[in-house]
Amino acid sequence: MNEGLFRLPRPERVEVAPGAVHVPGWLPLERQQELVAACREWARGPVPIRRTELPGGGVMSVRTVCVGWHWQPYRYTRVADDVNGLPVAQFPDWLGELGRSAVAAAYGDDDAAARYSPDTALINFYDDSARMGLHQDKDEKSDAPVVSLSIGDSCVFRFGNTENRGRPYTDVELVSGDLFVFGGPSRFAYHGVPKVLPGTGEPATGMARGRLNITLRDTGLGR
Ligand code: SIN
Ligand code: MN
Repeated sequence: MNEGLFRLPRPERVEVAPGAVHVPGWLPLERQQELVAACREWARGPVPIRRTELPGGGVMSVRTVCVGWHWQPYRYTRVADDVNGLPVAQFPDWLGELGRSAVAAAYGDDDAAARYSPDTALINFYDDSARMGLHQDKDEKSDAPVVSLSIGDSCVFRFGNTENRGRPYTDVELVSGDLFVFGGPSRFAYHGVPKVLPGTGEPATGMARGRLNITLRDTGLGR
């Protein structure tokens, strides 16, 4: 961390909007290292990490790999017919368990956590100049929460409203190890990443550069 000793203590849990909760520093360093190693493996295949092509001809600046279900604009498939035609890696049980712990930490609600059964993970890698425009996660046929885990460089995460891309929104700095969960009245809120803060990550995570974000979701399509 560049700021080292001068960093102020961070709050344990912040409700940014109803159902949208930021839990700073939730992932211990060892868990971040394990996730980085797992994501490196998934990035290799069976469906390699790539920049997603958009129907309008654009290409996303983040690089993405999926497990469980493969996301392509704007649907989920088992087979990555827009990449190499192979089925994506299976969604492991330990990732579902991590998702349930995340929901418990964010909402303090053990029943909601026990019900949570994500079946896909979208893994996004951001280099220094990558960003993600404001969008809604609405290709899932379920209103179960989205669990977001960040590792590596910090970013500005913009969390808005459910109506449009304009105000009101809140800019949150997501730091390596942070958890952000959005569900309930915030499940379909617009959100995005206007900027990454290069060089702010901790190389001990296994991420020498860049930002890794993992979102767990329930597609509603089944396991
Ligand atoms: C996403 O909206 O799918 C990713 C958000 C992030 O990178 O924090
Ligand atoms: Mn999203």
